[in-house]
Amino acid sequence: MEIPKKFQINEPISHTKFLIDGKIGKWEGRTTKVISTLFCDTYAKEPTLIGTTPLMDEASANQALDSAYKAFNQGQGNWPTMKVYERIRCMENFVKKMVTKRDEVVKLLMWEIGKNLNDSEKEFDRTVDYIKDTIEEYKIIDRKGADFQNNSGVRAIIRRGPLGVVLCLGPYNYPLNETFALLIPAIIMGNTAIFKPAKHGVLLIAPLLEAFKESFPKGVVNIIFGRGREIASPIMKSGKVDVLALIGHSSSAISLQDLHPQKNRLRLVLGLEAKNPAIILEDADIDLTVDECISGTLSYNGQRCTALKIIYVHEKVKDKFLNKFSKKIDELNLGLPWENTLLTPLPEPSKPDYITDLIDDAKSLGAKIVNKRGGQKQKNFVFPAILYPVNDKMRVYQEEQFGPVIPVISFSNVKKPIDFMADSNYGQQVSIFGKDVSRLGPIIDSLVNLVCRVNLNSACQRGPDIYPFTGRKDSAVSTLSVHDALRSFSIRTFVASKDNDLNKNILREMIDSKKSSFVRTDYYL
Ligand code: G3H
Repeated sequence: MEIPKKFQINEPISHTKFLIDGKIGKWEGRTTKVISTLFCDTYAKEPTLIGTTPLMDEASANQALDSAYKAFNQGQGNWPTMKVYERIRCMENFVKKMVTKRDEVVKLLMWEIGKNLNDSEKEFDRTVDYIKDTIEEYKIIDRKGADFQNNSGVRAIIRRGPLGVVLCLGPYNYPLNETFALLIPAIIMGNTAIFKPAKHGVLLIAPLLEAFKESFPKGVVNIIFGRGREIASPIMKSGKVDVLALIGHSSSAISLQDLHPQKNRLRLVLGLEAKNPAIILEDADIDLTVDECISGTLSYNGQRCTALKIIYVHEKVKDKFLNKFSKKIDELNLGLPWENTLLTPLPEPSKPDYITDLIDDAKSLGAKIVNKRGGQKQKNFVFPAILYPVNDKMRVYQEEQFGPVIPVISFSNVKKPIDFMADSNYGQQVSIFGKDVSRLGPIIDSLVNLVCRVNLNSACQRGPDIYPFTGRKDSAVSTLSVHDALRSFSIRTFVASKDNDLNKNILREMIDSKKSSFVRTDYYL
């Protein structure tokens, strides 16, 4: 089948640029190949080389760090002391330039990570909305700070101030959205940043380098490319990072934290693994539940931290649910991203083998594949397999599969899934399906203390971004939402004075003369 012209990549993209200290540099050293796993019988039989990206080294990492460190200048730099509206203006400029790159970024999202067209467009548009909402929210926060309090004879003006240098690392499944959902609030609050894209979804950052360079003062955003081990590690070892902002695996978060010589200085903003369960009660509306479980387990092939990763179904409705669920899943189509199928090739070359190993392990311990097409393997894909009955000896019970395999367990007492959640290392979200309020009420009261979002008759998800996104235990540190992210990347700091005439006159004059960016009472509209 022909690839639509606008989505073709005619020759590999040689990406050699990086952004350090306000300059776009050209990398002359080692590079790595970007291989797309988009292939099928009718288009290409093997993975396709779509480009190369820089494999930068420790020296470049240190340059990026120096640049961010200098721009922050221990809180005295131009950026952290700048007037809020000036930082907002930079961000508005950036977003205007960013939207002109939509087609390029969407095309690369499809090629690099196999996300379907609708979802790739959604990822881009949602990120643009996130930036615009962040600007508006920052104005609200700033307005709230334009106020003097007077308590026990002490007058105070309290605002939020930046923390310092942020190392920002995002995941491959949302290489644009989740990374920007860290980077944008971090910089708008006055921090400076070093950003390294994930393993997949790297080329799509290249079209945005110019926009960053042109919109922000030098050193505020530094973008480097390469392996975490080689470039993130030396940055952490320096002790000059104040915030580690990472969405990804807890093992990376732990090893990076361990490198920091002064751990108490390091603030963590982390989005990590999850094993979100669906709990299907005996009175659940099965048709609705099946639809929600399909989108919950299989949107973007299950490669979402919020995906439903284990299903608990009541004995009484188990057969009905499994029949309908299997039938609907077997009707799903696998296609290339521009064909907008729910199922698309997996971007990680090792994923099909990993998923097959999980299936084989579960089968060897007594599970069966319930759906006819389940487990059918191709070089770049495994058809979603519903496994039943699953037990705690199986790897798929514990591991975050991040792919198309769906473990199912039945229960007669809801204590079973609740105990699973209580024992789990994770605590992000849950979906509960049922109708009887007298049964649901007490269950919800337990669930809210085990996770941070209980979805009633709805699949788990992060959005809308206005709501808090976080988790308990090993699933997250800090809270992200348009509002909370601005808080996570800042700290309350204030100017206090004894309430006497001398101080009153100074403050009045400071406000009238607009001599301070901090001590002021004006509103940005
Ligand atoms: O990978 C985790 C994402 O935050 C999930 O976001 O629920 O909007 O797909 P989503």
